[in-house]
Amino acid sequence: MSENPTYTIKVNKAETSKIGSVNFDDLPFGSIFTDHMLYSDYKDGAWGDPVIEPYAPMPMDPSSRVFHYGQAIFEGMKAYRDENDEIWLFRPDQNFDRFNKSATRLAMPEVPEEIFMEGLKHLINIDKEWVKKGKGNSLYLRPFMIATGHGVIAAPSAQYRFMIILSPARSYYQGEVKVLIAEHYSRAANGGIGAAKAAGNYSAQFYPTRLANEKGFQQVIWTDDATHTKLEEAGTMNVFFKINDTLYTAPAGERILDGVTRKSILELAERENIKVEVRSVLVEELINAAKDGSLKEIFGAGTAAVINPIVGFSYQDTYYELPKQDNPISLQIKDKLTNIQHKLAEDTFGWTV
Ligand code: COI
Repeated sequence: MSENPTYTIKVNKAETSKIGSVNFDDLPFGSIFTDHMLYSDYKDGAWGDPVIEPYAPMPMDPSSRVFHYGQAIFEGMKAYRDENDEIWLFRPDQNFDRFNKSATRLAMPEVPEEIFMEGLKHLINIDKEWVKKGKGNSLYLRPFMIATGHGVIAAPSAQYRFMIILSPARSYYQGEVKVLIAEHYSRAANGGIGAAKAAGNYSAQFYPTRLANEKGFQQVIWTDDATHTKLEEAGTMNVFFKINDTLYTAPAGERILDGVTRKSILELAERENIKVEVRSVLVEELINAAKDGSLKEIFGAGTAAVINPIVGFSYQDTYYELPKQDNPISLQIKDKLTNIQHKLAEDTFGWTV
């Protein structure tokens, strides 16, 4: 906890816990929430003391800006319980920094580190029984901020609510993931909000993803908005390609989210002497590599999904199946990463907190 806290966290605990009714072996991602939530309200240019109270619906004015203009941002993080019953966060500083970058891009106020970090730790501590041991188990942490100011004028709100909710999680995707390469839709454009974790970036994906689902694909690989020739992200994840013995991923930037899992994979790969190139892979290059057999793997990477192998992709109505690998690099890296997260391997990077 901070030595000289500026904010006092007020706690109003739930009288009973829902935990007994939860089947931790069957957790559809992000659908069950712990007993408590945290919020802090911003008004008159200042953040109020955070409040932790029982998780519950909250009344809002129908004219709240978030409903009309989508002024909303979020983060995705996880907490893990190790074999000694200690609870760990993975690189929370990265999520905090990105949260405030997103806030700036959406003309929202920055959240003080103390509210974000101490609030998060305090909330997890209160709901710590929800963080289960064992690889594959985690508590998904969802900090978010919404514009709560009233009035439908199209201008930034003067009032905001920062919140954290927690959801016990296992896997994000179930079963095989086949993807469709986007030929018309894109996730982001230069000068847009692609680098922010803005709610609108995700809702904009729903329709093209539904079209892909109807054709039997679970996700879309987004291509650049201008030419649709460069491969950018996969669904809600960053994307990696293994061609021959090299891993490729696009540079984070205006259109591509600076994912925490993405950057951790790059650092791990460097440490393991795996060849990596951070550059855009062209659709044409991917097709040629699939045809000549040099394309070995494609995988998505993100906090919720961790590392998600992709079994095949379709482009212009042709489906390309990826070859089966005996010891895929995706699963080797996933194992190393999750061992660090669960403290089953030494964290020589200093990522766990
Ligand atoms: C995450 O991986 O944490 C994300 O933010 C993706 C989300 C849409 C589940």
